Amino acid sequence: MKPFLIHEATIVNENKKQTGSVLISEGIIDTIYYKKIPRNIIQSSETINAKGKYLFPGVIDEHVHFREPGLTYKADILSETKAAVAGGITSYMEMPNTYPQTITTRALDEKLSLAAVKSLANYAFYIGATNDNLDELLRTDPTKTCGIKVFMGASTGNMLVNNPDTLKHIFSEVKIPIAVHSEDEDIIQKNLQLYRKKYKNNIPVYLHPEIRSEEACYKSTVKAVELANQYNARLHILHLSTASELELLEGRSYSKNKLITGEVCVHHLWFDDSDYKSLGTRIKWNPAIKTRKDREALLEAVKSNKIDTIATDHAPHTWEEKNRDYLHSPSGGPMVQHSLPAMLEMHNRNMIDLETIVEKMCHTPARIFSVEKRGFIREGYRADLVLVNPDNPWTVSKDNILYKCHWSPLEGTQFKNRIEKTFVNGQLAYDNGTINEDIRGKALTFNR
Ligand code: DOR
Ligand code: ZN
Repeated sequence: MKPFLIHEATIVNENKKQTGSVLISEGIIDTIYYKKIPRNIIQSSETINAKGKYLFPGVIDEHVHFREPGLTYKADILSETKAAVAGGITSYMEMPNTYPQTITTRALDEKLSLAAVKSLANYAFYIGATNDNLDELLRTDPTKTCGIKVFMGASTGNMLVNNPDTLKHIFSEVKIPIAVHSEDEDIIQKNLQLYRKKYKNNIPVYLHPEIRSEEACYKSTVKAVELANQYNARLHILHLSTASELELLEGRSYSKNKLITGEVCVHHLWFDDSDYKSLGTRIKWNPAIKTRKDREALLEAVKSNKIDTIATDHAPHTWEEKNRDYLHSPSGGPMVQHSLPAMLEMHNRNMIDLETIVEKMCHTPARIFSVEKRGFIREGYRADLVLVNPDNPWTVSKDNILYKCHWSPLEGTQFKNRIEKTFVNGQLAYDNGTINEDIRGKALTFNR
């Protein structure tokens, strides 16, 4: 196969935006040209004219739920990686609340084998903590998993870890990133009882952020931060959703020494509680989407480096499930196809700059999880790249949704930008609407 030459793109990488060309050969970023390109290189390559287009490192989505094995009526690795590559995501880290749950080294190995056969994008899997699988966590090979997922608050999948002794062992003994879902279960249950008394089974959806409240998030995050500080653990707080939690995070950009890091999800930056009226359970997530003040504070925290990463928490459920009443509709929604377009639309609305988007969606996930040779446009790195046309508007609709569940909370939204090409290990996985289903991603490797 001829090498690809992505010619004269606007390369956004490592806090710079500059015109340059990238030569991809044998799956690797071979050379980056900022000046003249030798004529023989142009002649021997398949040249892609990228003038006026953005070239980003492929997005590393550190937080997805792809539902395989066991829940494939909602989604599966192939269907969701099709959507992911169409959304500019070239690598993902997937959560353990599948069936069976990924709570043993054996289940982890099985998932890795499944992905090797089915995944179009590069993959890694979390191992889930339970109240009694510490021995499994401790014998997990740190180069085989991105991290340990701890539900300090129950959500879909029933994996609550609430035993103080277990938490102490996890935080003091586990040496790989501990990614936590942080909501206090007692507060949630108390609030739920209160509203059940008042509304019986007809609780309105807009009360979701009162039930899964700010207080529930804050109290649990205080506890997680305390534990991490006490044991010098490597804590990553997932899907931060409130302004108040942000005061618990340090405000400096990620470095090897920053032991406590935080993630925000695209839906918490895009929606706020004024959207429950029109979107109802479609935007029912755990943690809940909260107020406009929270949404704005989260975006500010991204810019001030209190928040380190932007991910999706892509968590598809069927349309039928989502249309049940508040108490029976599961939390979560699909996002991988639309996360980069949504963030770029926020850039279009002057809310965030391109360099920050790349920092939070590509570079920092690679740094936090010590991903080898991905997440940056650097010579010698794997050629995971995404080419975006900043001015080719389109509207999210059933006709172009690729998720197996076939709905999106963003239906009807117009994006000015359009993803044109996504390269996974130098292979063109997505090309202007066409997905190459013949390629397969690789397991992420970790420099630990
Ligand atoms: O909204 C959510 N959905 N939050 C979670 O913690 C789990 C996820 C899911 O798996 O559906
Ligand atoms: Zn999640």
